[in-house]
Amino acid sequence: MRQSSLVVVANRLPLDDNAAPDGACEWRRSPGGLASALHAILEQTPATWVGWAGGIGPAPQLSDIGGLRLRPVSLSAAELRGYYEGFANSTLWPLYHDAVQQPVFDRGWWETYRIVNRRFAEAAAEVAEHGAAVWVQDYHLQLVPQMLRDLRPDLLIGFFMHVPFPPPELYMQLPRRVELLRGMLGADLVGFQRPQAAHNVAQLAQKLLGAHATDDVITVDGRTVHTGAFPVSIDVAEMRALSSSPDVLSQAKQLRHDLGQPKRVLLSVDRLDYTKGIEHRLTAYSELLRDGHVKVRDTVMVQVAVPSREQVDSYQDLRDRIESEVGRINGEFGRVGEPAIHYLNQPFARSQLAALYQTADVMVVTPLRDGMNLVAKEFVAAREDGGGALVLSEFAGAAAELEQAFLVNPHDVDGLKETLLHAMSAEPADLSARMTAMREHLVGHDILAWARAYLTALDHTGRLAERLP
Ligand code: UDP
Ligand code: G6P
Repeated sequence: MRQSSLVVVANRLPLDDNAAPDGACEWRRSPGGLASALHAILEQTPATWVGWAGGIGPAPQLSDIGGLRLRPVSLSAAELRGYYEGFANSTLWPLYHDAVQQPVFDRGWWETYRIVNRRFAEAAAEVAEHGAAVWVQDYHLQLVPQMLRDLRPDLLIGFFMHVPFPPPELYMQLPRRVELLRGMLGADLVGFQRPQAAHNVAQLAQKLLGAHATDDVITVDGRTVHTGAFPVSIDVAEMRALSSSPDVLSQAKQLRHDLGQPKRVLLSVDRLDYTKGIEHRLTAYSELLRDGHVKVRDTVMVQVAVPSREQVDSYQDLRDRIESEVGRINGEFGRVGEPAIHYLNQPFARSQLAALYQTADVMVVTPLRDGMNLVAKEFVAAREDGGGALVLSEFAGAAAELEQAFLVNPHDVDGLKETLLHAMSAEPADLSARMTAMREHLVGHDILAWARAYLTALDHTGRLAERLP
């Protein structure tokens, strides 16, 4: 087994084994922001990525992607249920997102989560050369830093949490709160999207572990753990290049034509997840139609809702509710050949997304809680023309950076309606000033800047960051 001096460990590999209807295996890019962000920087970096390839049973043979080696970790069907669908996505995910959906605490899942975390730690220990840096990602693998430290004390260990880290009063609900906190603090540097998360962890470390803790340094078990905020970002150059390509521009033109050349296109792109606020958005849009503020003949809404975590009950229930609501709205307000909402429950390639971003007059990104939300950043980067309005939830990490967006509280349906109307009627000069300011911010804070900042904080020398493209 060849070893690397930089190892990334994430639940998912950047490629996902997507079973085709005929049972054949099809490889496609993994869903979600973590894979988008890391894929963009690691593709050309000599490193190893340890992760799950999306299927069950023995791990597949995978070729390298550019300079990146892939080291698959296998999961059995029972492990997938207990670790991924259970503890990670039915306990931690809802709890960490402000419990917008009731977290499920099932004692049986914990043991599977521990076993799978150990498997990831062992795989990382195997592929890391002496003194290597290992960068562990997200809530699925919160026990890995300490497990890896026990296996390989020579390693430099980083951890980055892509999702919010909740306030103590929510975190304290977790039956295994002490072990999970200790696991994460096994790292040398724990990074978050927002400073508030580091503050929450410091409070918990004091309370649960008796540690000496500030918002940037925690001393626990005689070790020093650094913490801090490193807001993740996107490959701005890639999105700009894609968006100005003739193919994408002609796709965008065709899309507008296919939508019936409306005056306005409202667009939302989300994984079908209850944190994304899709139901609140549909309620607001439906009321705008009912009040007569929006007319189907001149405005259309496009909702991309990418299938996600489909075996988890709460996701199945959400899909049923959303599809029934879209059906109701189209039934009530649509006309022949003119639905009020174009609902697409399928994943799109990046070039198709770029075309959709070009087509949108108002991009509606209204999660109830989101660690960052890369879709909002992608939309801004895609609109070199300075056109388009971004309506953005205050509860997305991105809102702290994209201050010139039309910020909104998605829980307040009246406020959401007003903000949508405001964005729809804004003057082009106002929109362009907002988009230019946000784009300038992103250019200076792209994905490479994020990775450089994190890796420099991890090794303090800048040597790790030099390996990035
Ligand atoms: N995405 C994609 N195809 C789709 C929908 C989304 O490739 O059909 C990508 C999108 O471009 C973005 C990521 O998935 O990079 C979603 O990240 P975000 O942070 O917005 O949300 P997450 O899904 O991670 O919660
Ligand atoms: C979020 C999480 C990622 C995850 C992604 C997609 O972005 O932070 O860790 O990969 O959602 O979810 P999935 O369950 O399909 O991996």
